[in-house]
Amino acid sequence: MRRTALALALLALLAGGAVAADKAEKLDGKTLYKTMCKVCHGEDAEAGEYTPMYLIIEQWERFFDEDYAETHAEAAYEDGAKVIDAITPEMLKLIREFCIEGAADSEHPMTCG
Ligand code: HEC
Repeated sequence: MRRTALALALLALLAGGAVAADKAEKLDGKTLYKTMCKVCHGEDAEAGEYTPMYLIIEQWERFFDEDYAETHAEAAYEDGAKVIDAITPEMLKLIREFCIEGAADSEHPMTCG
């Protein structure tokens, strides 16, 4: 009996781990853009409306390489978390790829719907 309970607990633990891993894998640039960027850059946003197709590839590259850290140094989400702390390098890489993929001069200019 005990053994069964233990086995079940272990199984639940493993399943939980699998679900967490699944979620991490689903982190994609588009979802990240929506949750981490669009909150401040949606329609009529005070900070300016931005979707991938608002800039060309070169502008996005310059933004991520040179401007982001400085222009967002003080920006914070509603819960007080600083943007540059909340967005990990890995997340930023995915967001960058999403922006460049959908830039105005890319093959598939993209709004972020
Ligand atoms: C907490 C609000 C907030 C979040 C989240 C945010 N931004 Fe901004 N963003 C701003 C503000 C404020 C400015 C204006 C900065 C200025 O004028 O100096 C700005 C400016 C910009 C600009 C204009 C160029 C520049 O550097 O000034 C771009 C492009 C931009 N943000 C893209 C993004 C992207 C991409 C993300 C997600 C990785 C993001 N922002 C997340 C507030 C935010």
